[in-house]
Amino acid sequence: MAIYRIRHCEQLCGEVVIHSAKNAVLPLLCAGLLTKEPVTIESVPALTDVDTLLDILSECGATIERNGDNITLWSDEPRSPSSGDLLSRMRASVLVLGPLLARNGYARVSLPGGCAIGQRPIDLHIKGMEALGAQAQLTPGSVTLQGKLCGGNVYLDFPSVGATENIILASVLADGCTRIENAAKEPEIVDLCSCLTTMGARISGSGTGTIVIEGQKKLHGCTYKPIPDRIEAGTVLCAAAMTEGSVLLRNIRPEHMRAVLFKLAESGVILRETGGGLRLSGKAKQPIQLRTLAYPGFPTDMQAPMMALALKLRGTSVFLETVFENRFMHAREMTRLGASIRIEDRLALVNGGHALAGAVVSSTDLRGGAAMILAGLAAEGETILQDPQGHIARGYEDLPAMLRSLGADVTMDELDPHDANG
Ligand code: UD1
Repeated sequence: MAIYRIRHCEQLCGEVVIHSAKNAVLPLLCAGLLTKEPVTIESVPALTDVDTLLDILSECGATIERNGDNITLWSDEPRSPSSGDLLSRMRASVLVLGPLLARNGYARVSLPGGCAIGQRPIDLHIKGMEALGAQAQLTPGSVTLQGKLCGGNVYLDFPSVGATENIILASVLADGCTRIENAAKEPEIVDLCSCLTTMGARISGSGTGTIVIEGQKKLHGCTYKPIPDRIEAGTVLCAAAMTEGSVLLRNIRPEHMRAVLFKLAESGVILRETGGGLRLSGKAKQPIQLRTLAYPGFPTDMQAPMMALALKLRGTSVFLETVFENRFMHAREMTRLGASIRIEDRLALVNGGHALAGAVVSSTDLRGGAAMILAGLAAEGETILQDPQGHIARGYEDLPAMLRSLGADVTMDELDPHDANG
């Protein structure tokens, strides 16, 4: 079990280089199933979600080569993965559906797992594939899709990131033109489309609510470098804003994280974009009011780290979570440190500015786990964070090392669960 030890921190100073975005890299790797030619994704972060997805892609018949942090893959004859166990470990595993269906006219996958932050159905993915002419058969625990794909019109009831990506991945090889209405606009969608375009796909409108894809007979290989991780960057910024410090983030795209930057500025920190990155200085003081929304609204993945910051801010911060229905699990853990938080359905009221004391707490999900590391920085003494399921390493490449490089005292050990409290 992963055990994080976090000691109180007054100041973070220095600079860090942000890794490539997990949520960009995962769909980009799935795009490697679309062609027989090698697709190289550069600067892939060392995340367990990446390792799991590579195992799944290998089960799908992809040949995978690693060269440092570059990953090359190609697939002569892709096939549906046989083991459900791997797929149940991560949500993004469902993104093999689109490429497999596009290449073979058939795909069968176990229903995906991931953080238990809500019901997370895949009805929109299936609806999209059906609009392209596939027939879906649902059995408990798995879905089978088959049929030759033809372009079609898809309206998404919610701008789901995963469903938009899956439908794009399926339609790039379909016969004719596909139009996705109410598509997700996240930067990771734009990144996927720009990689697919490099591979020969014809896509317009990415980053808007209407994406149009003209299917091609085949795609070719490419070399592609993903965008930086706006959630990792935001997490480090929240940590810095909790302390009186000065932190420079390199490899960052501020235009991808305006909502987060606005909220941080409203709370009182100074943010300055420089040629080499983004600098945060000063200390947040004002309580936060935010509502999570699809992009360009405030990202749900940043709600938990912002709540950790709110623990330090005198007054009542208000969080309305509209994207996932069960995304306040970290709040209960924060109260173990002495935080005062009231949850009413999708609303969390954080009465911040009280003294917090280190305690033994748990990581409830990926972003909630990272938020608990931040909460530990705010608490007096030592906080021991247990992460038996390894949530944090799924999405952050060595977050303790990144925070240590800024002066924090955070370590991670893999321990036998029986020794966890020792
Ligand atoms: C992606 C991100 C995740 C982020 C989320 C929202 C990846 C690998 N993960 O997840 O970090 O928190 O976007 O920004 O990129 N929904 C349905 N039916 C569907 C699909 C989704 O009802 O078929 C609902 C979900 O239950 C949820 C909402 O739509 O309430 C948003 O989900 P979605 O945008 O699909 O998130 P993911 O792609 O799973």
